[in-house]
Amino acid sequence: MEKKDVVNVSPSNSVRLIHPMHTVLVSCAGKDGKPNIITLAWAMPTSISPPLVAVSIAPRRHSHSLIEETGEFVVNIPTMDILDATFYCGRVSGRDRDKFKEAGLTPMPARKVKPPIIGECVAHLECKLYGKYPTGDHTIFVGEIVEAYANKGCFSEAGYNLEKAKMIFHVGGNEFATLEPKIHKPKT
Ligand SMILES: Cc1cc2nc3c(=O)[nH]c(=O)nc-3n(C[C@H](O)[C@H](O)[C@H](O)COP(=O)(O)O)c2cc1C
Repeated sequence: MEKKDVVNVSPSNSVRLIHPMHTVLVSCAGKDGKPNIITLAWAMPTSISPPLVAVSIAPRRHSHSLIEETGEFVVNIPTMDILDATFYCGRVSGRDRDKFKEAGLTPMPARKVKPPIIGECVAHLECKLYGKYPTGDHTIFVGEIVEAYANKGCFSEAGYNLEKAKMIFHVGGNEFATLEPKIHKPKT
């Protein structure tokens, strides 16, 4: 193979090479019950049995303290319908503001955890803290999924209906994308 023509990427920017990342809204609440929302691009499944999901949150975020305090959170899946609210929740801290109110999002009771779900999202994974791992300038919180549900018509066991659920992917900075609503299957 001839030498590849490449663009060098600085170490600090190299994580962008695995973006666009599926963007989620995590709702959480402190012991006082006051709910908060944090926008995250760094979230991933880590186990099927038990069902586990990991989110990576910097210690300076207010949500980091809230999750440490109560050990509960909900991973909510936003769509392009609430792109502005999703970006907003990733730009201001809930330390002294009510992001539900300011972003125009609706808190609704969850089934098994205290933090509310976000009504405008199409799917919800209720989590109880399973483990916590420091990793550089972030902490990986692993949640055991104790309840999961999605809006009717948006999801079936085969996966999302991409025509209906236009999920948000973070490209970088203030740039986002969604998937073309078409399924591609490999030949074999
Ligand atoms: C698209 C997007 C993705 C983000 N992803 C993460 C992330 O994965 N981890 C993180 O700690 N912060 C992430 N942030 C930053 C937090 O959402 C932001 O600092 C937020 O204001 C923290 O809120 P809080 O202080 O109320 O917890 C992201 C922001 C945006 C806009």
